[in-house]
Amino acid sequence: MIRICQLTKLELDRMLPLFLEQTRGFEYNNWTRENFLSDLPDKWLLSIFAESDRKTAGFSINSHKEDALHIHYFFVFKEYRKLFLGNKMLDHCVKIAKENDLSRLTLKCNFENYKAVNFYFRNGFHIEDMIPDKKLYLMVRNIG
Ligand SMILES: CC(C)(COP(=O)(O)OP(=O)(O)OC[C@H]1O[C@@H](n2cnc3c(N)ncnc32)[C@H](O)[C@@H]1OP(=O)(O)O)[C@@H](O)C(=O)NCCC(=O)NCCS
Repeated sequence: MIRICQLTKLELDRMLPLFLEQTRGFEYNNWTRENFLSDLPDKWLLSIFAESDRKTAGFSINSHKEDALHIHYFFVFKEYRKLFLGNKMLDHCVKIAKENDLSRLTLKCNFENYKAVNFYFRNGFHIEDMIPDKKLYLMVRNIG
């Protein structure tokens, strides 16, 4: 059974060792403890984690940026990929954004991370802009 929950600071403190272990070696994002823990506007209200059969399976670290829920780090643990968990997590981000009167989801994705770029295309995002020297696309999903 899949459950998506709010990622409070208390929960993150508890799960940080697991998050660091799962994301170690991920080539497009190399967050330290400090990155995970840093405070951002509404971060602890808008961020989520996913459980599959009571085991943590992924997270989306989000904050409030202008009129958007901005996704800073979206990650499904390897053994839970291709099960539409990422899809469910994004749906939940949309739900939270709506509840907080935000009209868009935004994120930056390395354009060599083609799996993720395709995943976001399939889930309603488009490319709004790019930052070539950082190899990043700014991607947006408008929500009604
Ligand atoms: C990108 C990422 C978030 C996708 O998460 P996911 O949970 O695997 O996504 P989904 O299951 O919703 O979709 C992934 C694929 O599985 C397929 N799929 C899902 N369930 C399936 C099923 N039951 N049978 C067959 N295929 C299935 C989807 O169609 C999709 O196809 P693709 O491989 O051709 O792209 C995940 O791979 C990840 O965390 N990657 C590392 C971190 C990362 O890159 N984050 C983005 C940084 S910007």
